[in-house]
Amino acid sequence: MKYALIGCGMISPNHINAALANDLEIVALCDLVEENRNKALELIPKEKRENINLYENYFDMLDIEHPDIVAIALGSGLKRRLSIDCMKAGANVIVEKPIALSLEDADAMISTAKEYGVKLIVNHQLRFGETVRALKAESQSGNFGKLLHGTVQVRRNRNKAYFDAGKWRGTWDNDGGTLMNQCIHYTDILQWIMCSEVEEVFAYTDRMIHPYIEAEDLGLALLKFKNGAYGIIEGTVNTYPRNLSDSIAIFGEEGTVSLRGKTLSDVEAWEFKTGPKSRDDAIRAFGIEHMGSGHAPLYKYAIRAVNGNDDALCPAEESRSALELVLAIYQSASEGRPVRLPLSRGATTDFVGRFDKKL
Ligand SMILES: NC(=O)c1ccc[n+]([C@@H]2O[C@H](COP(=O)([O-])OP(=O)(O)OC[C@H]3O[C@@H](n4cnc5c(N)ncnc54)[C@H](O)[C@@H]3O)[C@@H](O)[C@H]2O)c1
Repeated sequence: MKYALIGCGMISPNHINAALANDLEIVALCDLVEENRNKALELIPKEKRENINLYENYFDMLDIEHPDIVAIALGSGLKRRLSIDCMKAGANVIVEKPIALSLEDADAMISTAKEYGVKLIVNHQLRFGETVRALKAESQSGNFGKLLHGTVQVRRNRNKAYFDAGKWRGTWDNDGGTLMNQCIHYTDILQWIMCSEVEEVFAYTDRMIHPYIEAEDLGLALLKFKNGAYGIIEGTVNTYPRNLSDSIAIFGEEGTVSLRGKTLSDVEAWEFKTGPKSRDDAIRAFGIEHMGSGHAPLYKYAIRAVNGNDDALCPAEESRSALELVLAIYQSASEGRPVRLPLSRGATTDFVGRFDKKL
C-alpha cells in the first residue's frame, strides 16, 4: 500500500517508524519546511529512500503519488481541510489526535469519509495497548459489576521551548490547551472503558503559569456518565520539574483496576470478584491479540480497516465524542455551571480571549 506523510515535525518519527514496521511503501514526505522533510527522510533506511519524493505542497503530492494512505500530523486547526482534500483524492486518512477543534469540522470529516468510501482513523494509540484492551474487555463483559467511578490523571511538564517550537501550540484556533492536546487520549479511553458517554460535566480550567499561550494549562473536570457512574479528569502541563506517570483507575462494585505509565501498561491494581483476576489472565481469557505499543499497532489496525476488516476498535465517531467532552469541559469552565451533553455545537474558537484578562 502506498503511504504518504504530511507534517514532518515532532511526532513524525513515530509515524515513519509505524509505516516501516507495517511494510507500507513510503512514497512521499510532505512539509512546508525543507529541513523537516529532509530530517524525516533521514529516518528511513537508505535502501528504502530511492523511491520517496519530497513535497512542499500536498496537492502536488496527491496528484502525482495517488497514495492509498495519508497520515496527517500537524496543527489541529488544519486537519479538517487537509483530511478532506486527501479523502476527496481517494486516500484513506490517519489523522493525529484530536480529530479536529470543532464538532462541525469533525462531522464534515466523518461524512466525507463515508461519501468517498475511505477510512478516517484518528490516532488514539492508547486504545491499542494490550493492558488497555484487556481492561476494556473486563468492563465490557460486566466484570466490574456496577460501575462506580473512573479517574484519569495526565500530569505533564511543557515549557516555553515546547510552545515556541510550534506557533500553533496553545492557540485556540489551532490547538486548544492541555485538555485538548495532552489529555485527549484519556478523555477518549475513559469514556470507552466506562462503556458510556458523558451526560453532564462541571469543570474548572485556567492558565496558571504559561502567559504566552492562549488556552488552559490546567483542567479539572467532574463527570456524570449516562450509565450512572461518575468520573474525574485532571490534566496539567504545569508539573514541576518534569512529567509524572499518566494514570487511569476504574472502580466498580466488584472490581478495581489502576494503571500507570506512558502506555498504561504498569498495573497497580487488577482486582475482580468474578472473571479474569490479573492482566495476564484477562489477555489470555479474552484472546487479546499482541499488537505492540505506540503508533505501530494503530497503523496495523488502519491497514486492516482499509482492507475491509472491521474498524470497531477506534471509530472516528468515538474520536468525535472525545472532542465533544473537552468542548463541554471548556464551556462549563467558561460559564461556571454544569453542562449537559450532547452539545448542539462547539469549537475551541468559542473561547478566544478567555484568559486574556491575565496577560
Ligand atoms: N499521538 C500522540 O501521542 C501525539 C504526540 C504528539 C503530537 N501529536 C499530534 O500530532 C500533531 C502534530 O504535532 P507535532 O508536535 O508533530 O507538530 P510540529 O509543529 O512539530 O510539526 C508539524 C509539522 O507540520 C508542518 N506543516 C504545517 N502546515 C503544513 C502544511 N499545510 N503542509 C505540510 N506541512 C505542514 C510544519 O512545518 C511542521 O513540520 C498534532 O495534532 C499533535 O496533537 C500526537
